[in-house]
Amino acid sequence: MEEKRSQAPARELLPRHIGIIMDGNGRWAKARGLPREMGHQAGSKVVGEIIRHCKKIGVPYITIYAFSTENWKRPAKEVDALLDLLRHYLSNMEEYQKENARLRVLGHLEPLPRDLRESIRRAEAESAGNTAITVNIALNYGGRGEIIQGVRRLLEEGVSPEEVTEELLSQRLYTAGMPDPDLIIRPSGEYRLSNFLLWQSAYSELLFMNVLWPDFTPEHLNYALHQYARRSRRFGGI
Ligand code: IPE
Ligand code: IPE
Ligand code: MG
Repeated sequence: MEEKRSQAPARELLPRHIGIIMDGNGRWAKARGLPREMGHQAGSKVVGEIIRHCKKIGVPYITIYAFSTENWKRPAKEVDALLDLLRHYLSNMEEYQKENARLRVLGHLEPLPRDLRESIRRAEAESAGNTAITVNIALNYGGRGEIIQGVRRLLEEGVSPEEVTEELLSQRLYTAGMPDPDLIIRPSGEYRLSNFLLWQSAYSELLFMNVLWPDFTPEHLNYALHQYARRSRRFGGI
């Protein structure tokens, strides 16, 4: 059966927070005899469409995994192309303002080029008051690194071992103040989290799909949402 549906489920059945591991850009390009960078370009075009769809149907938070702390292992040419796309994306905020979308960037930002950090700072500040949807871009993000920096902050604050709670650590993660993802979608046919939202995904519903990210459409998202709506979430209860 094709992993597509024309309609989203009813609003009360939707997740509050969707995480997406956008994957398969390289294979999409390879299948067309194109350089991998072209796959990333095609993939970046899909992001806006999916965000608009989430806003339209009433999903208040979405997190897109755009660049992991492990992605520096790729050839410099590809890393540069990915960072260029993100730079371009973050300096075009008209669409965000038009959609009343708040943008946040989650990740270890210090190692990024100075101009990119400046674009991030500006984009977050400009969109801070927007209320229709929160869009997190995970950039130089790694779940283990995020937990480590949270622990470091607790230690710096002088929190004693018996005072440490899940709540205190959660408040020191990049996602502080946001709901955990209810649903994490990974397209491209890979079945792993690749260091995405490790702490926050404790009770997320996971959905792996066979479509490559540049081919991902709102109809694929509707399919994912119908799968989610059928799941029975028990959180350890009965
Ligand atoms: C996009 O897909 C992931 C990133 C943006 C880093 P990939 O570049 O990982 O595509 P595949 O997995 O090689 O097909
Ligand atoms: C995960 O995809 C990272 C992003 C989507 C940004 P990868 O393609 O880097 O993951 P692996 O290497 O297949 O686990
Ligand atoms: Mg990949």
